[in-house]
Amino acid sequence: MKQARFLQKGRRRAHPTLAAHEMEKIQGTGGHSPLGAVALLALLWVPALRADIDLNTKFINQGSVANTRHNMTQRQAAGGGPNSVLMDPYRNDYGEVCVYCHTPHGANANVQLPLWNRTIKATTYTTYDALGTVSLTQPVGQPGTTSIACLSCHDGQTAVDSIINMPGSGRYNPTQATGQDNAFLNAWQNQSGVNATVHIGLNSTPGAGCLACHSAGAGVVGAGATDFTVFAISTDLRNDHPVGVRYPAAGPGVDFKTPSATRPSVKFFDLDGDARPDPAEVRVYASGGDYTVECGSCHDPHGVPSAGPGSAFNKTFLRVTNAGSALCLTCHSK
Ligand code: HEC
Ligand code: HEC
Ligand code: HEC
Ligand code: HEC
Ligand code: HEC
Repeated sequence: MKQARFLQKGRRRAHPTLAAHEMEKIQGTGGHSPLGAVALLALLWVPALRADIDLNTKFINQGSVANTRHNMTQRQAAGGGPNSVLMDPYRNDYGEVCVYCHTPHGANANVQLPLWNRTIKATTYTTYDALGTVSLTQPVGQPGTTSIACLSCHDGQTAVDSIINMPGSGRYNPTQATGQDNAFLNAWQNQSGVNATVHIGLNSTPGAGCLACHSAGAGVVGAGATDFTVFAISTDLRNDHPVGVRYPAAGPGVDFKTPSATRPSVKFFDLDGDARPDPAEVRVYASGGDYTVECGSCHDPHGVPSAGPGSAFNKTFLRVTNAGSALCLTCHSK
């Protein structure tokens, strides 16, 4: 399919024509000129290009992961809106929130992650130490499992809808544990009637994957689409806070704070003193004798209330607000 090639290979010159055509097909704009519609979108939605401003979605960041960007079924004005099926050609809308990451049965047993439903492709990451800063003192390994979980979407190697066990019986494919089988994923029928034949993700290559539309460089086809560029972490982690890095033990000259509680699997800063690693508590993860910083040290993918139950979540799924650099200062003595 022409469009599939365009999205996967990122042939950017082709964007406006194909996307306008696609929009017309998806929206059934009938007599309206697709270009007119695009120009109107551009006028209405340009302010939404800033990643911290959301369109009229359910992303209120409060109450549940269902109200965050980690609800992969979401789109503008969910359940309505002229473009509510815009995303459906590119990812399966499973009509459930947890299923993009978890399944009650048939989970991925290759990784130590809770009931993990996602494809984990064998990947070698370029780690932070490859940058060669003189200040780094601790060994850095490949990302640990709690980072692999995030990278299974955020490195852009795997489609956001690539799961092992789709909702309903008989929609289970164990080979999905290690590889993405588009024929299997194609069997899913979206409720909107517009089925995904292209399964894409947060590919960092300009013009590819979700960024084909969700990036500033996408031109007219991206008008109104939030810029996701910074969410596309890629497999090169040299420009990200180190993960898979050993957390230093206390001692002379060590400018790190010591976690106040220890479990076999995690050491954590136990804010409420209940000896449980609560979502709002920064932690480092056991990894063969050492404890390492991972994505989950700083982030909880379900969202963490900023001021007790029911309050708005900390921005960007952070465990601790970073106002006044509070998150950084949990670990660093600076
Ligand atoms: C975007 C991916 C994603 C989605 C969506 C998601 N989770 Fe999770 N969940 C994770 C990851 C990653 C972990 C492991 C976190 C860790 O080890 O620190 C986890 C851990 C958990 C755990 C065990 C540890 C904990 O944090 O309590 C439970 C229970 C859980 N998820 C339930 C749910 C439910 C219920 C939903 C849907 C309402 C959901 N999750 C949606 C990614 C997700
Ligand atoms: C199922 C795929 C998937 C998994 C797994 C996943 N993410 Fe995401 N995440 C996304 C997508 C897609 C977006 C942005 C696009 C959107 O709004 O749909 C996003 C957005 C984000 C954002 C920006 C949120 C905001 O409000 O601006 C953060 C931060 C984030 N993810 C962190 C994580 C971390 C940390 C993990 C692992 C603990 C993780 N994600 C696991 C797919 C995923
Ligand atoms: C063909 C272009 C196109 C592709 C490809 C595309 N989107 Fe979108 N998306 C848009 C446009 C345009 C909007 C804003 C207008 C609307 O929602 O009707 C949007 C809106 C969204 C929204 C809700 C609005 C917001 O603030 O974020 C989410 C979430 C989203 N897209 C996620 C994704 C994800 C995840 C992918 C990749 C699996 C993707 N999109 C691929 C064009 C696209
Ligand atoms: C040491 C703490 C820390 C670690 C480890 C960490 N992050 Fe973050 N992350 C942050 C902070 C702080 C922000 C908010 C930055 C901002 O507001 O611009 C953030 C923002 C993000 C965003 C939103 C984009 C942005 O820059 O605003 C994504 C996506 C994300 N992180 C994913 C990840 C993934 C995936 C990993 C693991 C590979 C990870 N993070 C590891 C602290 C961390
Ligand atoms: C969970 C604990 C933890 C948190 C939270 C944390 N860091 Fe770190 N940070 C580390 C560890 C461990 C290292 C590696 C130290 C070393 O090798 O000497 C590190 C290293 C660094 C380095 C040095 C990198 C180099 O090349 O030497 C910088 C800069 C840094 N962190 C900044 C931040 C900022 C900014 C924040 C807040 C957004 C933050 N850190 C949050 C644990 C953390």
